[in-house]
Amino acid sequence: MTLENIKQLGKNEKGENFDQLIELYKEDVSVELKREIVSSIGRQKDDKKVYDFLKENAFKKNYMDVIYQMFRTTLYKYNDEKFKDLCEQMREYYNNEIMNKMYDYKIANQNKKVIFKKSSIEKPLLLKGNSIHTLKNINDQDIHLIFTSPPYYNAREYSDYINYEKYLNELKKVFTECYRVLEDGRFIIVDVSPVITKRPGREFESIRYPIHFDLHRVLTDIGFYFVDEIIWEKPEPSVPNRIGGYMQTKNPLAYKPNCVTESIMVYRKKCNFLLDKNIKKYTKNENYKPNDDKIHTSNIWKIPPSSSRNHPAIFPDELCKRILKYYSFEGDVVLDPFAGIGTFGRVAYKMGRIPVMCEMNDTYIEMIESEGIYDNI
Ligand SMILES: C[S@@+](CC[C@H](N)C(=O)[O-])C[C@H]1O[C@@H](n2cnc3c(N)ncnc32)[C@H](O)[C@@H]1O
Repeated sequence: MTLENIKQLGKNEKGENFDQLIELYKEDVSVELKREIVSSIGRQKDDKKVYDFLKENAFKKNYMDVIYQMFRTTLYKYNDEKFKDLCEQMREYYNNEIMNKMYDYKIANQNKKVIFKKSSIEKPLLLKGNSIHTLKNINDQDIHLIFTSPPYYNAREYSDYINYEKYLNELKKVFTECYRVLEDGRFIIVDVSPVITKRPGREFESIRYPIHFDLHRVLTDIGFYFVDEIIWEKPEPSVPNRIGGYMQTKNPLAYKPNCVTESIMVYRKKCNFLLDKNIKKYTKNENYKPNDDKIHTSNIWKIPPSSSRNHPAIFPDELCKRILKYYSFEGDVVLDPFAGIGTFGRVAYKMGRIPVMCEMNDTYIEMIESEGIYDNI
């Protein structure tokens, strides 16, 4: 029996093949075929028989791909009370994130039309002060892309948190505001890497913090979906040398490789529609032009770092350019809630986007202001 054969059996809507499909289901076939059999059973018109089949099998041990097909049928027939009950029982029994997302798409959002409102922001904006507070000046869903690199715990002089937990809590407050101001289905991209804090003395060990692992949980708890991790790779001579000690002794356990990467973590704001809806908003415009032919095909981006006399950790322009190219459209409003000297805003403006920058350090604020493009709040 092939997938195609099963599809053909399922297409007979009069139900003449129903019993054959049930018999096939009982056979020891591959997950892929079983999934197709369940999908074909779900397409049959005899609701009583479909329901009996699901009721009997939906809670038996099976591959989850097969269970998802059963669940899918309960969603399609949800208007019938018995399928609705079964659907809710399955949700409770499995408490599975994929099923919950299917439910959100199909049921929770059934009658909601997706309407994207025009952003009320028409000019570049500089929000001075702590972004936990200043972002309150931005309306819900007025932002189309967020790209940022948060303070790296206490690794730089511009940040000082009393402990790591408090640091993560402060970031959570900012990212919760980011969630509110971002348009449904759009991207937030965060550049982070593990940090190490200075040893309080030679007799103590330093602590290394995998910030991106902990931040992942913060972002998904808020409601962002994880989409991708892009690795930003820097040339080795440009990063601090950690391997020197090992090179001298070559003792096992003393190995400390040079850290040439940062994680560019890509998330999408939760919504109950496919990405196509976000894209169509632009492509239906007759003046729309897609990106050029230069494409970075892998998730490793080799880009040299940039340095500045004025700030210890700035984005290279090239990194901002790629983020803007792949995750926003011309005319979009783009936000950096931890703007530093405003590199992202400067590049975004040149690329025809409308930047919104948040910064609380007076020296960096002055530098952003010197661009001469921003209205202040
Ligand atoms: C890693 S730096 C960003 C550098 C930036 N990407 C650039 O290219 O200049 C983080 C910045 O966030 C700022 N910052 C930290 N916490 C903040 C907060 N709660 N509100 C606003 N700015 C904050 C710091 O002053 C620092 O300049």
